[in-house]
Amino acid sequence: MERICIADSKEHVGEEVKIGCWLTNKRGSGKIAFLQLRDGTAFFQGIVKKNKVDPKIFDLAEHLRQESSFWVIGTIDADKRSPFGYEIQVEDIKMIDKSHDYPISHEKYNINYLLDHRHLWIRHKEPWAILRIRDEAKRATYRFFHKHGFVQFDAPIFTANAPENTTDLFHCEYFGEDAYLSQSGQLYEEAGAAAFGKVYSFGPTFRESKSKTRRHLSEFWMIEPEMAFCHQDESLKVQEDYIAYMIKSILDHCQYELKLLGRPLDDLKACTKTPYPRISYDDAIKLFHKNGLHIKWGEPFGSPEETCIGENFKKPCFVCNYPKSAKPFYMKPDPDDDRKVICADCIAPQGYGEIIGGSERSTNYDYLLKKIKESGQDPKMYDWYLDLRKYGSVPHSGFGLGLERFLAWITHQNHIRQCIPFPRLMNRLNP
Ligand code: 4AD
Ligand code: MG
Repeated sequence: MERICIADSKEHVGEEVKIGCWLTNKRGSGKIAFLQLRDGTAFFQGIVKKNKVDPKIFDLAEHLRQESSFWVIGTIDADKRSPFGYEIQVEDIKMIDKSHDYPISHEKYNINYLLDHRHLWIRHKEPWAILRIRDEAKRATYRFFHKHGFVQFDAPIFTANAPENTTDLFHCEYFGEDAYLSQSGQLYEEAGAAAFGKVYSFGPTFRESKSKTRRHLSEFWMIEPEMAFCHQDESLKVQEDYIAYMIKSILDHCQYELKLLGRPLDDLKACTKTPYPRISYDDAIKLFHKNGLHIKWGEPFGSPEETCIGENFKKPCFVCNYPKSAKPFYMKPDPDDDRKVICADCIAPQGYGEIIGGSERSTNYDYLLKKIKESGQDPKMYDWYLDLRKYGSVPHSGFGLGLERFLAWITHQNHIRQCIPFPRLMNRLNP
């Protein structure tokens, strides 16, 4: 008899198989027990009929506890009513481990209780489906960038620089020196682009965001491509192609997970088609004023502004060329308007907020040195970065996509904490 996993049921209809399972739930009528089973690859139903199995097995099935583990032996059947499509007619059960009383035994817990039990909660359908989709997004990322000739180039986690700002750094002591957990791998990717042409990093990044919002984690994963000899318009094309590719991969490989989440698909299908809309920062300000939001020119957008853009466009929208005052030091000034920089934020539809921040980078040594000093940082820490402008400086552009922000949109989570296995939030370091 073959040992299979639940996900492979389709290839074994009518066959007798053996599967290692956990029990997620059960119900019964006295004559028949319906076991809700999971094995990590999918969820499906095991049917135990009193008149078909040894009385000891039926008794065992009726008394199984949630999250007990066992081998199930039986025959695979089609099951048109379930989202999965198959079930198993159970013939035998061999216990592996009896579970203690399981702490997540009904539907109605508050979010803090569930997060306290995150190590167990990830076994349940909704978190399971989201994290499977996360895995597909990561696979798609590797495929996309390798297909397009990018080299994966890892950035360090301990750093001495603050590319984005100096206010939300995680400080630590590094053998007697001040260090920070990386806010962004970008500056290192710029060095990588000058060595390999097109590179990307994909790793955890850290921000001590003291505001409790539904869009901020203190540890999140960012994909940061950087391209030499590349202007902003070419970078925007890569960005939209990358997002469309990830969505297509998720639609191709995660139909079951999307079904478990009850996520409608039409808007996602539309987003596999590019180009995505582009508007200027100035046009965005006009749009806000028309919608009753009174942000002043020069200010960065907050969540109400991002939501406003997301509600006005059906696809991700690039907001281009922000005022210098709203953006970090490394961005290239706009030759047509010195108050602005050549950059874009990509705002997700439906109010899920900014998913990408990117820009063309300044190639000018003196300009960058001045901006670093103005930001109150020690230029010594940037000697190596400024070297990149001394030895064959070329136009180059790049961007960073926040994986959890992207997933919150794709899986329709109103808070990004469910889009990472173990979220790190202001008040949460455990589990
Ligand atoms: O806009 P940000 O700060 O840009 C950078 O870090 C650039 N250095 C990227 C680059 O050009 N290489 O962050 C990029 C993205 C945001 O658009 C958002 O999706 C995500 O990272 N992000 C966060 N996600 C979760 N929690 C937070 N606290 C985040 N801060 C940024
Ligand atoms: Mg940003």
